[in-house]
Amino acid sequence: MGQKEKEMERTDAGVVVVKPKPKKGVTSKAIDWLECSFVKMMHDPKKPLHYLSGNFAPVDETPPLADLPVEGHLPECLNGEFVRVGPNPKFAPVAGYHWFDGDGMIHGMRIKDGKATYVSRFVKTSRIKQEEFYGGSKFMKIGDLKGMFGLIMVYMQLLRTKLKVLDVSYGYGTANTALIYHHGKLLALNEADKPYAIKVLEDGDLQTIGMLDYDKRLGHSFTAHPKVDPVTGEMFTFGYSQEQPYITYRVISKEGVMEDPVPITVADPIMMHDFAITENYAIFMDLPLYFRPKEMVKEKKFVFSFDSTKKSRFGILPRYAKNELLIRWFELPNCFIFHNANAWEEGDEVVLITCRHEKPDLDTSNGSVKEKVNNLTDELYEMRFNLKNGLASQKRLSVSAVDFPRVNESYTGRKSAVNVIDAKTMSPDPVAVVELPTRVPYGFHAFFVTELNEGKVDSESVSEKASERSYIRCSYQL
Ligand SMILES: [Fe+2]
Repeated sequence: MGQKEKEMERTDAGVVVVKPKPKKGVTSKAIDWLECSFVKMMHDPKKPLHYLSGNFAPVDETPPLADLPVEGHLPECLNGEFVRVGPNPKFAPVAGYHWFDGDGMIHGMRIKDGKATYVSRFVKTSRIKQEEFYGGSKFMKIGDLKGMFGLIMVYMQLLRTKLKVLDVSYGYGTANTALIYHHGKLLALNEADKPYAIKVLEDGDLQTIGMLDYDKRLGHSFTAHPKVDPVTGEMFTFGYSQEQPYITYRVISKEGVMEDPVPITVADPIMMHDFAITENYAIFMDLPLYFRPKEMVKEKKFVFSFDSTKKSRFGILPRYAKNELLIRWFELPNCFIFHNANAWEEGDEVVLITCRHEKPDLDTSNGSVKEKVNNLTDELYEMRFNLKNGLASQKRLSVSAVDFPRVNESYTGRKSAVNVIDAKTMSPDPVAVVELPTRVPYGFHAFFVTELNEGKVDSESVSEKASERSYIRCSYQL
């Protein structure tokens, strides 16, 4: 590792230039043959890959296409780029495929001086560079991690890594989940890896610079949902792992300096997709969606399985704590949460607004997308944690399925103010509709990077309609 670190090239800004060194040869061909044999014996090719069809199907990159047709008027003062990342596999899978498996592709709409440009680019991860080198899919997929076949595919990955067919010294994440702007850098994130830095060029193009390891201080994975404090400019983040410490909390200063790791103790390896901050606290969610490789093999289950008998635990830690001694844990009824909307403090209480699932099922191989959507149980909840008496409570705020919430990031960690809106601006009609030159597949998270205030990100409320011809509706409030 030490020797490898010395070899890693960096930009002037300290970003690691990603240059993996995979090795072609007899060994790689032998493993391909072995994998192919197991796939033929154990995988049913007739099983539909739901997340590669319809508007989940991947698209090719689109270089910047300027002067797109605009219906209406794009305000001259709206200068910046709307960016959204999502999974878009470059190569067909050898067997199964999960929606989380696709290579990260960023779709961008550059808006400047009333004109719109569209671009889509892959994030040039170590993973996609190596698969481009081989001309095919080589990394393990979450969609295969079920039953004995899942264990075999884990061994295929271990074999390729051990025998240096694949080079995992730069990680193997997809950068497909979310984007954030901090310390002058746009970051593409995936919770299994470190952040990738993306440069937004003047013409709207999106260029991958490399990987961030914060001057070698980041040695673990990095959530796709870090929080930037709008007042202090600090970024708060964590990573989760299948090995101890299962959770590691980090604070990154406004200047981009990463503080020492703070391990957070939880009993088992879990999936923790999001967390939250307030002005004084960080909130961690120990929820019973477990990484269970033994059950995967013995009970033919998906590798992440939900235990509906366990309580949900929420840990509240002073956000500058150097260790976990002061963390306070609270219990609430069984649930899982992918995304929080926001959190704040009220007197002795910490309030969390969140999207609560009763029966999460991450196994995308057992049912169509329509069936999955119909079974969604996510609802908006308010949870309260009283730091004085140690009690927790929750109440439902909405009965309809709600997830992927966004708030104005100027209020991250603070209470969402009462809005007084001029009725004249309440029209549902968009100010402008930009026609896109190509289909945009379904994806994950997005926001607007404004050009006006360098280093500051404003999130705009944007609704998307994905169909044969896609549009991004840019609603602008005067
Ligand atoms: Fe997410």
